[in-house]
Amino acid sequence: MSTPLIPAEVLASPMTVAHIELAEAVTAHNYRPLPVVIATAEGAWVTDVDGRRYLDCLAGYSALNFGHRHPRLVAAAGDQLARVTLTSRAFYNDQLGPFARDLAALAGMDLVLPMNTGSEAVETAIKVARKWGYEVKGIPADQANIVVAADNFHGRTSTIISFSTEPVARAGFGPYMPGFRVVPFGDVAALAAAVDVHTAAILLEPIQGEAGVHIPPAGFLGQVRRLCTEQQVLFLADEIQSGLGRTGTTFACEHEAVVPDMYILGKALGGGIVPVSAVVARADVLGVIRPGSHGSTFGGNPLAAAVGRAVVELLGSGELQERARRLGQRLRERLEPLVGNGVLAIRSRGLWAGVDVDPALMSGRQLCERLMGKGVLTKDTHGSTVRLAPPIIIEETDLDWMTDQFAAVLAEARLSADCVRLRFDPRSS
Ligand SMILES: Cc1ncc(COP(=O)(O)O)c(C=O)c1O
Repeated sequence: MSTPLIPAEVLASPMTVAHIELAEAVTAHNYRPLPVVIATAEGAWVTDVDGRRYLDCLAGYSALNFGHRHPRLVAAAGDQLARVTLTSRAFYNDQLGPFARDLAALAGMDLVLPMNTGSEAVETAIKVARKWGYEVKGIPADQANIVVAADNFHGRTSTIISFSTEPVARAGFGPYMPGFRVVPFGDVAALAAAVDVHTAAILLEPIQGEAGVHIPPAGFLGQVRRLCTEQQVLFLADEIQSGLGRTGTTFACEHEAVVPDMYILGKALGGGIVPVSAVVARADVLGVIRPGSHGSTFGGNPLAAAVGRAVVELLGSGELQERARRLGQRLRERLEPLVGNGVLAIRSRGLWAGVDVDPALMSGRQLCERLMGKGVLTKDTHGSTVRLAPPIIIEETDLDWMTDQFAAVLAEARLSADCVRLRFDPRSS
């Protein structure tokens, strides 16, 4: 039996129903959205077609770290819209150089290769690592391997899903790209065993977001760094979701004072306005790319570069990172009492939390639907985990209100579970 698009308990207006039915009729069904139709947004809040407001606690999977329509980002985009939006890389434009200079400085690296989506940046990283492996490390042609972690999420292209361990992401999309080795996340011994003389790179998310905000054991990233240095292997850090302020630092690698050989960035780099991604690395790594070997029609376009530069500027003072740390601490303190009261576990770093709801009480999806009923939007993952990643600019009072709604949904579910138990427990009659 297929699940209804709009659960019975959701009161959807005819306008909402019409929008949902249209979208479902004319788009491929590669998502199962919550039944809310957003029309406008500002800061941490969105408004639906019926004028109902919701607190956005998914924030475009962290693409909206700075909130919806941040005034400085909108201004940068607006100014650039009035000048020039696309040149292609066949010509220079006056935005790309300043953007790349500022981004490289933020990351402490030399060079930037701009792309558009996160998946393209990961693809770029894979290509660069292989080329570096052949030209610099001396791996025999077509023999390079890259070691990755189980439960990874690096995107959706056919190469990337070739090393996914998520059956639904892979199934039916073979044949798969060879040259990847998968080891358990956080297991440095398994990583060391997988690395050999043909290994060009280790590709990791410093914190696995899509998996449910999985944080590796303390010391792991430092051990990866040492292994990579000893074995002449590149450490590619996919910070597409963890980077740019989310965890309370500019990059999640900073929590272990680790500098990878390459940052892979996306999502928040475009400020939630345009897709902007990039790989950022030292010159001895990115220097292997020469004219014709890689590119993108839209990568590095002046509109994207202007927005990306404004994003880098926003992060320059460190205030947003500090805010993510402070609010993250508050989020943690307010979620902690829910453990044992409908929540099995919480993992968090900065303003980013994965909350495992007790499956005996409800699924992650049901929790998200009920939160939506209370005006909070977020997303489940892997059955019973719910991610909380509100925009970093969220007001503290809104954050508190959100955790109150979270607690209320769990309390209501526990109450009705208790009522059901009482009704069926023969000792209670
Ligand atoms: C860590 C990570 N890498 C790569 C991607 C893919 O980015 P995109 O959806 O922009 O292709 C994502 C998206 O969720 C991600 O979280």
